[in-house]
Amino acid sequence: MIKLGVIGLGKFGTNILNTYKQLEREGLCKLVAICDINEKVLEEQTKKYNVKGYTDHKEMIEKEEFDGIAVATPDPFHKEPVIFAANKKIHVFVEKPLDISIDGCIEMIEECKKNNVLLQVDFHKRFDPFHIAIKKDIEQGRVGRIEYGSVHMEDKIVVPRDWFPNWAGKSSPVWFLGVHFFDLIRWLIKSNGKNVFAKGMKNKLKSMGIDTYDSVISIVEFENGALISFELSWILPENFESIVNQGFKLVGEKGIIECDSQDRGTRVFYEGYGVMTYNPIFINEVKGKCGEISYTGYGIESIADFVYNVKYIKNGYKIDDLKNGITAFGEDGLEVTKIGVAICKSIETGREIKI
Ligand SMILES: NC(=O)c1ccc[n+]([C@@H]2O[C@H](COP(=O)([O-])OP(=O)(O)OC[C@H]3O[C@@H](n4cnc5c(N)ncnc54)[C@H](O)[C@@H]3O)[C@@H](O)[C@H]2O)c1
Repeated sequence: MIKLGVIGLGKFGTNILNTYKQLEREGLCKLVAICDINEKVLEEQTKKYNVKGYTDHKEMIEKEEFDGIAVATPDPFHKEPVIFAANKKIHVFVEKPLDISIDGCIEMIEECKKNNVLLQVDFHKRFDPFHIAIKKDIEQGRVGRIEYGSVHMEDKIVVPRDWFPNWAGKSSPVWFLGVHFFDLIRWLIKSNGKNVFAKGMKNKLKSMGIDTYDSVISIVEFENGALISFELSWILPENFESIVNQGFKLVGEKGIIECDSQDRGTRVFYEGYGVMTYNPIFINEVKGKCGEISYTGYGIESIADFVYNVKYIKNGYKIDDLKNGITAFGEDGLEVTKIGVAICKSIETGREIKI
């Protein structure tokens, strides 16, 4: 039985809790304890998930026994709980981005290596079945050498304005959204970022008292020569057809790939709602075997992957053995953060930056 904990119980921490509870029903793991500094959130979640709660992650880790812990605190606050858990020989699953500084990522990687624990990052776009199919095509050489491409990922304004206005100013479309696709593209084309040039705009959110970029446009040159542009923003209108507009194009010497990761082919129109599109393969609520609420989708598979990895390690596999799979490790988190940091530096200096 894998003993698990969760630190940070907000919007995405809830998806982690749902996944762990589901795997608990299947007999794979046990949710031992959870932690949030917000007492109200903690009270609601401990009641809902019928589990012990703490407001201090150190106290929780000292008092309870864990094989693995998930960290879903806001973007800039992943490092402290990760390092504390690693020092207690606990495997760690971290929400993206691993950290918003290169030094922070390196510190976490080294601490986990020293303690021989797994450091896994939640880059769930790797688990999207369309993206997996595209990766196979690229690996079979069908597209040829990738020469250029483009990515767009744009959230509705409700995300920074209403979901987490208290920490949106410490994040940006680069850290909250871009990291998903920096990882996906480097995973697909098997190459890391080399140089970047970027521009950003602060306007709409700043006028609402949230001091961060509305939008960031960047061109990343990868080590294999591919040139990919990334259009990132989180100011789409409230009545846009889905919470996120996202997709990408890759063009190689032998072919073109276009993937709309938002509009999966279903479009509905209801009175009072207007046109809406779905992405049910991300996280889909279904009825479980005994009528309970259950979840499917690549967003869930990515979270569950950590639990299976911990099980493999407990069964005698080495962390390096797992590197042949789909999992994103701390080192992937570092490469993604290097791109994010270089984009921020390029916006600040107005120059092309070496990653
Ligand atoms: N994988 C994805 O698609 C995805 C989507 C959304 C968010 N995220 C990531 O998940 C993380 C959390 O985002 P969210 O949207 O759930 O934010 P949120 O604001 O809804 O939740 C964060 C929670 O962490 C708690 N917290 C803050 N500091 C803490 C600490 N030191 N110890 C314990 N709890 C603490 C807060 O009280 C809050 O309840 C972020 O890194 C974000 O980028 C990932």
